[in-house]
Amino acid sequence: MSAAPQAPAPVASTVIDPVAYAEWDGLLDTFDWLRENMPVTRVENGDLHDPFWLVTGYDDVMRISKDNKTFLNSPRGVVFGFREGEEIVKAVTGGSPHLVNSLVALDAPIHPKYRRLTQEWFMPKNLKQLEGEISALAKTTVDRLVEAGPEADFVPLVASPYPLHVIMQILGVPEADEQRMLFLTQQMFGGQDEDLNKTGMANMTAEQITQLVIGAVADFEAYFAKLTEEKRANPTDDVASVIANAKVDGEYLSDRDMAGYYIIVASAGHDTTSASTAGAMMALAQDPEQFARLKADRDLLPGIVEEAIRWTSPVQHFMRTAAEDVEIGGVHIKEGDWLMINYVAANHDDRVFENPRKFDAARSPNRHLAFGAGAHQCLGLHMARLEMKILFNELLDRIETVELAGEPKRAKSSFVGGLKTLPLRYTLS
Ligand code: HEM
Repeated sequence: MSAAPQAPAPVASTVIDPVAYAEWDGLLDTFDWLRENMPVTRVENGDLHDPFWLVTGYDDVMRISKDNKTFLNSPRGVVFGFREGEEIVKAVTGGSPHLVNSLVALDAPIHPKYRRLTQEWFMPKNLKQLEGEISALAKTTVDRLVEAGPEADFVPLVASPYPLHVIMQILGVPEADEQRMLFLTQQMFGGQDEDLNKTGMANMTAEQITQLVIGAVADFEAYFAKLTEEKRANPTDDVASVIANAKVDGEYLSDRDMAGYYIIVASAGHDTTSASTAGAMMALAQDPEQFARLKADRDLLPGIVEEAIRWTSPVQHFMRTAAEDVEIGGVHIKEGDWLMINYVAANHDDRVFENPRKFDAARSPNRHLAFGAGAHQCLGLHMARLEMKILFNELLDRIETVELAGEPKRAKSSFVGGLKTLPLRYTLS
């Protein structure tokens, strides 16, 4: 076993810097260097945050994700945060490191009980019933793009509203409230980006960002408390009704647990899918030959979706806490240590993915880790795949050629990230 490898200072600051995630290529270079030189590395940036181990290799990220006994979610924050922000969260929650008590903050034996409540609902068999509704929505979404042509920003017109509308419909949130949900999600996930946090402020302090997120969560909780009342009085077949009426060990979920459940579905369910959709469209706008090939061969539709999700890896990391002393990649990790499993890095590991920076819808196999693995593997993965498949089929039907009409811009976020603008020029079929 070797001595603990320490990330050099510029690397340590890059891997937590939202701006580096927005610039992307340099970040991928950093991850390549880390995988080559120190695939499990200690990251410290003075007093800014608790030290953590950054894991960048595919096999190590897979192993940690699947070993849910040794690598826990509940003891510490599951998303990287600065010390100042973590202290505020503990003060607000009365000691919990989790502002939101959602599935990703839980471990066994509670986690499987909570997950089981909605797992069935998100399986392909149940989702099949939604296909007609989702197809109609994809069509009206692409209608908007067609009408706006020959140039438009794909993100606000298609990539963002489409998955938002799907998830809100299955959650039972009325259309009139969708913009409020989008606003809250972007504040939660995009706090580091001046365009998404809705304050117009760049370089906000950890305290300002944390306060913004606390406000967004409080608003979500108040909104869903009202929805729960309605869904208990008049249950329907949407997910909100399942959550509102669910019982664990004979009891309804507490208000905090219920809010956490709604919030993770409401938030995880759209910015992620939106980022993968926009990313794939950008890749295709830069590769007309591949676009033409995909138009002609719809057998490649599942491949587009899978590659879109790998190539963009919109959930960029999650954190785990070691339950006991353990060795990974020859490095000794101590009980209680904090680890970052980085999905962007793992999905660009060239020992697993040939030419990983290339978008290749025909890539096979494509066993990416963008949905995670193990007990917490994305609950909505079938739903994300279904939505994207239907949308890309519609886009390939209606768009003849597509190219960039300006510079795409990525969000500044080290957690959920992706394009915030994608100007396109296109012709119709
Ligand atoms: C968890 C990615 C879409 C709901 C996760 C995790 C990742 C992820 C990486 C954590 C996995 C782990 O810890 O091993 C993505 C990506 C998506 C996407 C890349 C789209 C491209 C969705 C959708 C929904 C959803 C559409 C809801 C309908 C959830 C939930 C969890 C989760 C509830 C927590 C599961 C648990 O802790 O048991 N997702 N997701 N996600 N996702 Fe997704």
